[in-house]
Amino acid sequence: MYSVLAKSSSSSRLSVVARSLASFSTTASSAHQQPTISRITVIGGGQMGSGIAQVAATNKHEVTLVDVSQAALDRGQGYMAASLKRVAKKKYATDEQAQAQFVDEIMSRVSLSTKPTDAVSRADLVIEAVVENLKVKQELFAQLSKAAPAMAILASNTSSLPIGKIAEHLDDASKRRFIGLHFFNPVPQMKLVEVVRTSEADEAVVESAVAFVKAIGKSPAVCKDTPGFIVNRLLLPYMMEAIRLLERDVASAQDIDTAMKLGAGYPMGPFELCDYVGLDTIKFVVDGWHASGEGLAGNPLFAPSKKLDELVKQGRLGVKTGKGFYDY
Ligand SMILES: NC(=O)c1ccc[n+]([C@@H]2O[C@H](COP(=O)([O-])OP(=O)(O)OC[C@H]3O[C@@H](n4cnc5c(N)ncnc54)[C@H](O)[C@@H]3O)[C@@H](O)[C@H]2O)c1
Repeated sequence: MYSVLAKSSSSSRLSVVARSLASFSTTASSAHQQPTISRITVIGGGQMGSGIAQVAATNKHEVTLVDVSQAALDRGQGYMAASLKRVAKKKYATDEQAQAQFVDEIMSRVSLSTKPTDAVSRADLVIEAVVENLKVKQELFAQLSKAAPAMAILASNTSSLPIGKIAEHLDDASKRRFIGLHFFNPVPQMKLVEVVRTSEADEAVVESAVAFVKAIGKSPAVCKDTPGFIVNRLLLPYMMEAIRLLERDVASAQDIDTAMKLGAGYPMGPFELCDYVGLDTIKFVVDGWHASGEGLAGNPLFAPSKKLDELVKQGRLGVKTGKGFYDY
């Protein structure tokens, strides 16, 4: 979600990330050594889970992809194969045999399962990417924390739920190995992974997660467990302010988009971005933060917008429904 601006990654943004990692590595005092991560279990075979599985397998990790539904797993496997075929075509142009070999070799490292507790029993890292529902995630981790090896890192890919809240009912040892690993959509293309550190997480766990993110060819940005982490905390107010400009009739959606693309160098205007993300998703996150988000309750940046509410009510949710701020 909200991944588009990350495409315009600038050297200054990367240098900020690099500085934060440098300061992190000098202050880190590892309580114990984490094992090197080679076996990953990804729970949730949807859009994000299948992307994470694909990227990990591409970078030589052994992956088990888990879902409650076999149909979802078959779909996830289909997404991965289709995405890898596109990569293979670019990489091996007219050599069809090399293309097939490339796809088969990567897919051979991915196994599928509908049994989460069995699937985590040998994992070094468990990444959860199931529906965005606190109760579902808490119940899942209550099981996984017992079934996974004691040293396995437990991670959630949530976009909007506090990481500490997902882990709140776990025992202390599990809280120390629990972090956020926030990937961006589409996972194979998007370079950033936010590594979210709770106040209870061991430094060695964060360090190991950073190393994993680099090992799969992504760039980590380490941040504290606060609403929206880095990217969404900055993007949501930007999108909401754009909607308020429109509500006040300052300019048309087209002119605001043109202004931000040509005047600020953004790859998409805020309304194109809203439509891409999904207006229902934006409303869900903003309303949640405004009502109860830690430190964000009542913040005017996240106050409800009549315009947004109306569009969602009309089913104009953006690109996915063919209509949002624009018609597609
Ligand atoms: N879609 C995005 O742009 C995006 C970006 C970053 C993070 N996220 C986060 O990633 C997570 C997944 O998002 P998605 O877009 O891939 O969702 P999705 O709906 O495409 O996939 C979710 C999958 O989880 C499965 N599932 C549900 N409950 C389960 C359980 N108990 N055990 C195993 N599998 C279960 C569902 O069958 C489904 O296949 C959410 O937390 C979301 O906030 C999404």
